Amino acid sequence: MNGPLRLPPGYDLVALEQIGSTNDEARRLALAGAEDGTLVWAREQVTGRGRRGRNWTSPPGNLYTSLILRPDCTPGEAVQLGMVAAVAIGDALGTLLPPMSEVRFKWPNDILVHDRKIAGILLESSAMASGKLEWLVLGIGVNIENFPADTTFPATCLKEWLGEDDGPISVEGTLEAVCRSFLLWINIWQDEGFPPVRAAWLGRAWRMGEEIEVRLEDGILRGTFCDIDEAGALLLELPGGEKRRITAADVFAAPAAE
Ligand code: BTN
Repeated sequence: MNGPLRLPPGYDLVALEQIGSTNDEARRLALAGAEDGTLVWAREQVTGRGRRGRNWTSPPGNLYTSLILRPDCTPGEAVQLGMVAAVAIGDALGTLLPPMSEVRFKWPNDILVHDRKIAGILLESSAMASGKLEWLVLGIGVNIENFPADTTFPATCLKEWLGEDDGPISVEGTLEAVCRSFLLWINIWQDEGFPPVRAAWLGRAWRMGEEIEVRLEDGILRGTFCDIDEAGALLLELPGGEKRRITAADVFAAPAAE
């Protein structure tokens, strides 16, 4: 697609050819006072970052963007915005992929297509002395043209699922679709709170009710993925029946029993 981007009102675009990380640039702008809705977008990142200190391989052809938000909430409530973004990206991808494509959300906020990761979200925030959130940077990476081959969890990209009849796919078109969908979902979150977001997320949750492996900083748990709570934490039932509330981890399918 050529021509200017058509973003909904409220977004203030900072478009870059290349940057270290759009999240780092958005943090810098947020610290300098940039307004809610400032959207940093780069065609390429040279030091893209993923969750838990991992790299995010970022060659040209995929979407790399970071949105500055200043919602009137606590840092704890702001965690819900990761799921707002996941649900919004899921809907946006649904408009771009062929009709029967299976889009799922992998806790905490990865987006999968046919069991492979197509998009990830990196939340970073700063709080005020009052305990209120000062700013939040919502970093979004969507694989469009390519994906890394050597990831612990298998990856995919939009192009893999699109045929010639599906029309052209572009970074700009994907960014526009994500921005439109995110605006709808953040309005729902602001008007009605987390319950409709949680319901939408649960409606497409990956491995809900199934055995999963939860990789924590300091060990591995296996159990049944029962639910997410009203704050977005994962609830895991261990084999003995005990329930664990998980706030930070990576989730995998449980290995098949021997
Ligand atoms: C993850 O799944 O680990 C999160 C990946 C987040 C990647 C995006 S790309 C745009 C923004 N800038 C970064 O350096 N990271 C996020």
